[in-house]
Amino acid sequence: MARKKIIAGNWKMNMTPTEAKALVETLAPLVQNPDVDVVYCVPAIDIVPVVEAVKGSNVEVGAENLYIEDKGAFTGEISANMLVDAGVKYVIIGHSERRQYFGETDEFLNKKVLKALEKGLTPILCCGETLEQREAGVTLDWINLQIKSDLQGVTAEQAASIVIAYEPIWAIGTGKTATSDQAQEVCGAIRKTIAEIYDADTAEKIRIQYGGSMNAGNCKELLAKPDIDGGLIGGAALKPDFGQIVNYDK
Ligand code: PGA
Repeated sequence: MARKKIIAGNWKMNMTPTEAKALVETLAPLVQNPDVDVVYCVPAIDIVPVVEAVKGSNVEVGAENLYIEDKGAFTGEISANMLVDAGVKYVIIGHSERRQYFGETDEFLNKKVLKALEKGLTPILCCGETLEQREAGVTLDWINLQIKSDLQGVTAEQAASIVIAYEPIWAIGTGKTATSDQAQEVCGAIRKTIAEIYDADTAEKIRIQYGGSMNAGNCKELLAKPDIDGGLIGGAALKPDFGQIVNYDK
């Protein structure tokens, strides 16, 4: 069974609610492709207006973060229940910016993955190596460790439903994309890791994205690789180019 491609925008800390509504309107006619799942992962404050703006369309909405507790005295945090109630279906977990700037550890990220799954949200679990790690030749070991740590306690059935995003840190926002062969090598290794932790069937089902300066020009080659099932798009998700990525196969 062929895996359906999934193209997700990661808006990061961009777009006021007013700008977000305008962007959704601009992109609406451009992002229609029945062969691709389309997701906008948006800042918390944009979730409600964006859910409203995409109603009746093919686009699903994702969050960029969630907290591990259900409710209570956690000033500034947002729970999975709040996201679900607002109409969110996906949540980015473990983006390298959160690991780097907010000190999120694999142990903490594992709790987020479990919480998202418990509440019916689909995690887009990010992993990726630094340039130093790539040059030291430890990329695959590092990614292996991240995936195994972040998926502790996740069942095979749950694992089959999640999305993993391979994002080499040196390629994020730098305009420096991994070559399609480099991206394929790691995405293939991630699928092998999933087969090791679970089984071949789970590995066959799980969707693995590439992220890191993916754009309208390079998406076709990346998405043609056998183990790359989609993209997590930062900069190019804020422009009409996103529509070209969604329609990479046209
Ligand atoms: P980029 O970001 O496409 O701007 O490199 C990707 C990401 O961080 O998810």
